[in-house]
Amino acid sequence: MSDSDLRRLYREHAPRAPEGRFSLETLLEGSGPIELDIGFGRGLSLFERAAQVPDSRIIGIEVKTKLAYKADQRLQKHDLRNVAILCGDAREILKRAEPSGSVRRVSLHFPDPWWKKRHDKRRVIGDALLTELERLMKPGGELFIQTDVEHRAAQYVAQLQERAGFALAAGRGYIDENPFGARSNREKRAIEDGLPVWRIVATRR
Ligand SMILES: C[S@@+](CC[C@H](N)C(=O)[O-])C[C@H]1O[C@@H](n2cnc3c(N)ncnc32)[C@H](O)[C@@H]1O
Repeated sequence: MSDSDLRRLYREHAPRAPEGRFSLETLLEGSGPIELDIGFGRGLSLFERAAQVPDSRIIGIEVKTKLAYKADQRLQKHDLRNVAILCGDAREILKRAEPSGSVRRVSLHFPDPWWKKRHDKRRVIGDALLTELERLMKPGGELFIQTDVEHRAAQYVAQLQERAGFALAAGRGYIDENPFGARSNREKRAIEDGLPVWRIVATRR
């Protein structure tokens, strides 16, 4: 298949969120806790988490069509029923998602690989996303962010400190270990290479 055929395949067959306002509750069967994995990349965190918590409903959101398509193919191959993939910009998708107060956990593993000032608007963690997470998360719900960029971690802490809807964990939000266990591809690589990782947890008030 040519590169352009592949790009079309990914674009046309990556799973999308329903049009307009839609319910996170009806994307997957069952009534288990809803978890979001935003920007899952190659998807290790999705698959590890799906195996750990088979009764949870895990929704992965990824903007790159190729990654969303490939993760979805893998779900189908392994007949994994507790994960749904939505391809698109998480900020736009979550703006349309309902119901409020339905999400138990949210993970953002190594988000925002953008360095230049002019790319600031691409950064997924910002007011638009945090406003929707405040709306969608249950009181007591956990938000977990990890990154290998120290100053980004400090920015995330500062952004969360300003929001009335979130309380950072003790110690300005920093924790040593991934509280959900499921590793992302970048996390696994960082651990193997012995690189530092900054991990932050906040609770929805
Ligand atoms: C540095 S990668 C990390 C991938 C994976 N979470 C990991 O830790 O291995 C960041 C991922 O976030 C995705 N991403 C960036 N902006 C996004 C957005 N607005 N909505 C959804 N996904 C986004 C990128 O396409 C990329 O796959």
